[in-house]
Amino acid sequence: KKRVGVLISGRGSNLQALIDAARSPDYPAEIALVISNVPDVQGLERAEQAGIATTVINHRDFPTRQAFEAVLDEALTGAGVELLCNAGFMRLLTESFVSSWLNRHLNIHPSLLPAFQGLHTHTRVLEAGATITGCTVHFVRAAVDSGPIVAQAAVPVHPGDTEDTLAARVLQAEHRLYPHALRLVASGQVHVESEHVVGMPQAEGQTALF
Ligand code: GAR
Repeated sequence: KKRVGVLISGRGSNLQALIDAARSPDYPAEIALVISNVPDVQGLERAEQAGIATTVINHRDFPTRQAFEAVLDEALTGAGVELLCNAGFMRLLTESFVSSWLNRHLNIHPSLLPAFQGLHTHTRVLEAGATITGCTVHFVRAAVDSGPIVAQAAVPVHPGDTEDTLAARVLQAEHRLYPHALRLVASGQVHVESEHVVGMPQAEGQTALF
């Protein structure tokens, strides 16, 4: 099993989905460490409940991004982490950190990338009048919410949706998509070649309509 580190900043519902998936004996990954950059968040409680080691590395305790990331990297390396998953982790990472975890680092974003990168995703989807949105798991690159796409799920926007109703519908898809995408990567079924994820026919693994 691949040793996975999960970075969080809050609620941790995607972390929970990964924890639940990893309970399965045939799942190719185990959660070795959960790190939050924010103290006292629900995601830390979820990890503790599951008996997973947790650390708070509060970015506010460090004078620079580099200093924060040095400690982050040390904690991950020290725990023998082989694959890193951002799950609602809301800090930008420097190019240097990103390159040291290159192709071993996943993120989930609540839109069909490359559409709607960045913050306040659902509000902007509604403002744009989009009728389909979704979520994406991708390998992390220095530019925010970009990088080779591992898997996506499409989710309909319903008339009358608010930010909250849409976020909740997309979140349900996220909870299925992330364990699926991590399985593809941890098992070695997919890998990055020339900045694209390859290894299996698109229809079999990378696209899901939930
Ligand atoms: C999720 O919707 C995730 O896609 C999003 O934050 C939420 C975290 O929820 N991430 C981003 O917007 C990153 N750009 P969670 O803490 O319950 O998993």
